[in-house]
Amino acid sequence: MALYTNDSKERVRDAVDMVDLVSSRTELRKAGANRFTGLCPFHDERSPSFGINPADKVYYCFGCQASGDAFTFVMETEGVDFKGALELLADRYRVALELEDEDPRAAEQRQRRERLLELLERTATYYARQLWESREAQRARAYLTERGLEEGMLREFRVGYAPSAWDTVLDASRRAGFGNRELYDAGLATKSEKSGRIYDRFRSQIIFPLADARGRVRGFAGRTLGGEGDRRPKYVNSPESELFHKRSQLFAADLARAPAAKAGSVVVAEGYTDVIAMHQVGVRNSVCIMGTSLTEEQVAELARLAPVVQLALDADSAGQEAMLRAARVAAGRKLELRVVPLPRGEDPAELVQRAGGEEIERRIAASVPFVRFRVLRALEAGDLSDAEGKDRVLAQLRGIFATLAPSVMREELLRIVADRIDLSTELLNSLLAQRRPDPAEREQRPQAAEQRAPAASLGRREKQERTFLELCIALPDLGSPALAELDPEADLATPALRRAALHLREHLAAPSEALEGDEELTALVRALSVRAAGIERASPAQFRVERLQLELHRIEREIAAARARDEPISDLAKRRGTTQAAIGRAMEQVMEEGAASR
Ligand code: CTP
Ligand code: MN
Repeated sequence: MALYTNDSKERVRDAVDMVDLVSSRTELRKAGANRFTGLCPFHDERSPSFGINPADKVYYCFGCQASGDAFTFVMETEGVDFKGALELLADRYRVALELEDEDPRAAEQRQRRERLLELLERTATYYARQLWESREAQRARAYLTERGLEEGMLREFRVGYAPSAWDTVLDASRRAGFGNRELYDAGLATKSEKSGRIYDRFRSQIIFPLADARGRVRGFAGRTLGGEGDRRPKYVNSPESELFHKRSQLFAADLARAPAAKAGSVVVAEGYTDVIAMHQVGVRNSVCIMGTSLTEEQVAELARLAPVVQLALDADSAGQEAMLRAARVAAGRKLELRVVPLPRGEDPAELVQRAGGEEIERRIAASVPFVRFRVLRALEAGDLSDAEGKDRVLAQLRGIFATLAPSVMREELLRIVADRIDLSTELLNSLLAQRRPDPAEREQRPQAAEQRAPAASLGRREKQERTFLELCIALPDLGSPALAELDPEADLATPALRRAALHLREHLAAPSEALEGDEELTALVRALSVRAAGIERASPAQFRVERLQLELHRIEREIAAARARDEPISDLAKRRGTTQAAIGRAMEQVMEEGAASR
């Protein structure tokens, strides 16, 4: 794949206006010399704990610890990869991207792909026009209307119609300069086995364009209208090709991407009409798996869209099998699976049409964790009328409960089961624990411990050390020599801050540079940088106070160590006294400055 030059990346970084970029997601207010704050776009909150430093072009949230630069901001809010973010930003801030020198074969490959994509794009436009303009498409329009789908939505999804003739797309494409080989490779033509001639693959069908997450059309699904003599299957897809892989396709991933990133969840339905109907009533974070049983590739795509996946699949047994499969595929990923309860025999499109948008919203809001769904299903499917049946259900539940870490949820489910099979929860618990859990099941355990730890309240010392480093950034003329003479091991108690100090010693002018690959340090430095930008009037006196505080702590640690070794502490005690006095004088000065500036 072609890469953009590093120089391109740097020019994009330079061109980004961080305030403008972030303002498109959350309202920002100036909150310091060079700092803006607002409500965090990455988690729900009422008072702003999210801040940016526009000079350094970094953001940090003191609530959820989200942090990053312009690229990660776009990656997270738009749900794109780095390349996608680069392209979006280049577009927004009008920077021309340059490609690294490619070897000629790779360049040829890329150009070929681009032509195929262009062909697919043109064809999608052609089909869409046919749906709205051709007489022949009358039946298709009537079908869609009858399914409750409105024109505006159908246009947004670029739904189209393929005429009945054998060669309309072939003809139009050839006139635009595309060859048979390209038509074939794009999946638009098929070959007759008898005559060897090629003709249009899609004819007399409603066309659903299948785009990738960036909105590029990769293939099509054609739905027959089931006229007389039409014995084709209900749906025909583009064939597998270098551009189209049904296994990794999610219909509407492009439209759902930003809403899913914002909502933190993605709703998964079975069919095209389900998705269009849901988008129509405002459930814009929905996609469909096109009737397949969810594949591993699709799960990977879903994980890219959002951390929570809400399965709105038919309540029939096929849909339930798909869900069990989904859970197996999702196991081991940090993906939370939930199940949206649907009425039996009704898909989301029918539900929306019958009961309206609020009903589907209500059900999505009432989604249950997948494990709960499994437990209820095992109880429902089992025969609880005698001991043997109950034992069989228990054997099934054992595997499910083995995946559940001790939790309120586990207790609740235990109570439900105990109630249904008429045992005390204590006895049930011991029966469930009797066999060692199957290791495969164990992997499905929700990885609570791995989830982001809540911000531990910072100790007083750590706070002071942070403040000092922030002031070093805010007042580099004082910070630079102070950092040079600092002995991080002795002066700082917090290991992470020691590393930050060493980094700042080298990169005080542009703290967020040269951090690649060290996530912890990157987040910390960004937090410091954002806070530093918010310090209103950093004064030399204040700097002295903080510097002396570190000194004082260091002396106190030395005193404690000396006491532990039973050594004399009188010299240290004397130094402590002079340091405390110096802090006092510096504090007075800070207060005088504060009074003078009011
Ligand atoms: N599907 C498919 N091939 C089929 C049948 C179904 O690819 N032969 C996929 C399609 O993506 C379809 C989804 O499975 O949207 C759900 O199937 P179904 O409910 O049968 O199709 P709908 O499009 O909802 O059509 P309808 O309900 O009007 O029959
Ligand atoms: Mn359906």
